[in-house]
Amino acid sequence: MPKLWLAANWKMHKTVSEGQAFVARLVEQIPGLIKPGAGEIRVLIFPGFVSLQSVAAAARDTTIRIGAQDCYFEAHGAFTGEVSLPQIKDGGGSAVLIGHSERRHVLGEDNLLVAAKLKATVNAGVLALLCVGELAEERDAGNAFSVVDEQLETALANRSGITERTLAVAYEPVWAIGTGRNATIPDVEEMALYIREKLLEYVDEEHGREVSILYGGSVKPGNLAAYMGIPDITGALVGGASLDADSFAALYREMEGP
Ligand code: 13P
Repeated sequence: MPKLWLAANWKMHKTVSEGQAFVARLVEQIPGLIKPGAGEIRVLIFPGFVSLQSVAAAARDTTIRIGAQDCYFEAHGAFTGEVSLPQIKDGGGSAVLIGHSERRHVLGEDNLLVAAKLKATVNAGVLALLCVGELAEERDAGNAFSVVDEQLETALANRSGITERTLAVAYEPVWAIGTGRNATIPDVEEMALYIREKLLEYVDEEHGREVSILYGGSVKPGNLAAYMGIPDITGALVGGASLDADSFAALYREMEGP
């Protein structure tokens, strides 16, 4: 059985103390997360930068991995407001969300900036969780696949160092994020298959086959199991339903299966 990912993107929510309390409550609910860890599911939490280090410290005795929601591609220098990969690693982060739809569509990141961030992340030996997905109007116009293709092709143009250890992909259709309007199983299945084909092409046959593909967009307890039944989907990236530890624990149990 392939390893599964359950990832929490807290976006711009949670203070330091709320983040720490979440970890304590989650571990209370899922004791198998305490090291050495009992299960097949890898939990990954993406807190805001300010609480990354404290949440990593709270998770020290667990198998929970902590990641950043963004990074800058330079290692240091005069880039006011940005956060580098060495800083993220030093704070306890071992993964970064790259090209989340809110970075692309609210904060204006284009495919080239996303590619530069992905390259820097891979070079730093940190897991890049590359987010791709189309807008509602792009899907309605029949362009969902070409949009995702361009996002993948640009981001993976420099493929040196990219393996299943440094890259995972999250398919998050923008219209499904935070809307409660989740994508249908056939739509996600078709897109996951397409992403797999593109990974074989843009990474290579060996590693492209092993890269994890996650689904994200209005995942909540009760609808996760159906996505996990899709052959190419080996995880979920969760926003709203990841903010409450009990709800996140319910997702963990749903992923474990009966
Ligand atoms: P929601 O689960 O709130 O739809 O958010 C998904 C998301 O953007 C995760 O990165």
